[in-house]
Amino acid sequence: PIDPKDIKKIILIGCGSAYHSCVTAKYWFEELTNIPIEIDIASEFRYRKIKLNKKNLYVFVSQSGETADTFAALDLCKKNKVKTCSIVNVVESSIARSSDFVLPIHAGPEIGVASTKAFIGQMLVLYILGIKISEVRKEISKLDYEKKINDLKKLPDLIKETLNYCQDYTPIIAKDFLNAKGAMFLGRGLSFPIALEGALKLKELSYLHAEGYAAGEMKHGPLALIEEGLPVVILAPKDRYFEKTISNMQEVIARGGKVILITNENNKIISENVRFTLEIPMTDDHLTPFLMTIPLQLLAYHVASLKNYDIDKPRNLAKSVTVE
Ligand code: AGP
Repeated sequence: PIDPKDIKKIILIGCGSAYHSCVTAKYWFEELTNIPIEIDIASEFRYRKIKLNKKNLYVFVSQSGETADTFAALDLCKKNKVKTCSIVNVVESSIARSSDFVLPIHAGPEIGVASTKAFIGQMLVLYILGIKISEVRKEISKLDYEKKINDLKKLPDLIKETLNYCQDYTPIIAKDFLNAKGAMFLGRGLSFPIALEGALKLKELSYLHAEGYAAGEMKHGPLALIEEGLPVVILAPKDRYFEKTISNMQEVIARGGKVILITNENNKIISENVRFTLEIPMTDDHLTPFLMTIPLQLLAYHVASLKNYDIDKPRNLAKSVTVE
């Protein structure tokens, strides 16, 4: 058995969107527990001279449970007899069968190659794992634990509200991406992995070059990409990074970027230079990744459908990457 009190380090491993759920979890876990957290892309992890440690917990995130690189990374851990846990949507999959522990996401079969409900499910299970570990290690008060669980119970309605709100606007916003030469998605903190995921969705479905970046990184090079009319999605919920991300947004606007701002309701930035503002429901900071993902998934869908691309089967891609 794995006693959360004995865990020395947690390493979260996955590919693609599953990796992005690991990046989100790193931020959550760092706030919920004192355990050091590492993340790794499975295809990198499996070939590095990794120092595996029997006191660490290795968590493998995979919707299909058949991703070759993730399975190989898990196999490396098993051969070294270290503790493994997998978060999967297919409980009879190879990765599930090979792990010491399995946490199923129960999202139901996901047909489209692009991971959407499974990504939300991966994040949800990771978040619950984080608050549970924190509670067992008494690193979170009973009151705070209960509050977080109650906040989670409100999530389905908040996601429904966000979906209904975004349905009307994302088809219009999508038009800005039709003839764009690329797109950028910027965020800080918990918004950073969602920026990565938003860019991946747009790439996968509309074949447009799109980059997800840490908003604080713009001055270190990517600002050179900003030019008149380039669509830039800024993820700026009302959290501790808000002011800094808004100043990154101003830098983008000053260079002609076409900004789509995603923030919380009643937090509208009165700026005629913001092309569109989408206001997601206000919620606990920890839950904004779930809500911000919704407009980005819809945006990718609408850009692809405006281009008449196959939404479920984008070119060159497979639902489960069972080869390297
Ligand atoms: C996500 O939209 C992609 N289809 C892809 O990046 C996917 O997340 C990745 O291949 C991992 O798949 P898995 O979760 O089944 O391991």
